[in-house]
Amino acid sequence: MPSSDTNLPLIVIGAGGHARVLLSTLLQLGRHVVGFTELEASEKVLLGIPCIGNDDAVLTYDPQRVLLVNGIGSVGSDSKRLRIYDSFVSRSYRFTSVIHSSACIVSDARIDEGVQIMAGAIIQTGCVVHENSIINTGAQLDHDCIIDVHAHVAPGAVLSGSVHVGARAHVGAGATVIQGVHIGAEAIVGAGAVVLSDVPPSCIVVGVPARPIRVKA
Ligand SMILES: CC(C)(COP(=O)(O)OP(=O)(O)OC[C@H]1O[C@@H](n2cnc3c(N)ncnc32)[C@H](O)[C@@H]1OP(=O)(O)O)[C@@H](O)C(=O)NCCC(=O)NCCS
Repeated sequence: MPSSDTNLPLIVIGAGGHARVLLSTLLQLGRHVVGFTELEASEKVLLGIPCIGNDDAVLTYDPQRVLLVNGIGSVGSDSKRLRIYDSFVSRSYRFTSVIHSSACIVSDARIDEGVQIMAGAIIQTGCVVHENSIINTGAQLDHDCIIDVHAHVAPGAVLSGSVHVGARAHVGAGATVIQGVHIGAEAIVGAGAVVLSDVPPSCIVVGVPARPIRVKA
């Protein structure tokens, strides 16, 4: 993203818990937030920022003059977060990445467009975080982890070196994944799990050590 883009005003999509954390982060970073959207237009104000209407209200803004922030959180392959992203990108809008000032990210890590890195996260050398993924509060990625598109590493999760998290996968809050493990696309690692071996695509694993409970339909 060109550095001049960081001066563009922002619109946050959504008004739930994840959106509010993003709003407070953006305000702390000194970014100019025009407003947020809700399912229905309302008079609601969050942290001094007004609701601009429902998601269609975004379309009244020129895609060249505004950047979006995806405030829809996700557990598992939450299709709404993905749908919002694809729908606005297909209309030429761009999602800015949001990086909390307390996150620790080494200079050679690659952070793609629309990625959100929350307070206290740590991202070590050689990591790549692809489009629209969330590295949530206090999560840690050790060296050479790859996080595919639309994935979510939830608060406090710890990935050892060279872990690969597939597209739309979810690593639950406080989970630990040992080195070199591959979490398949759309898989879910339950909160607090300890993952010692690869997780197949769409598989849900829980516990210590992590075991499959089912495969998503
Ligand atoms: C793994 C998870 C997705 C399972 O959800 P679910 O499919 O609705 O599963 P259920 O709640 O029906 O539980 C199924 C079984 O797995 C167990 N289980 C569920 N989650 C578990 C977990 N994290 N650790 C250990 N066991 C778990 C349940 O106790 C239940 O066991 P039982 O059949 O013996 O009663 C969910 O519990 C979870 O951990 N989500 C991650 C939450 C998270 O990361 N939040 C962060 C948001 S920012």
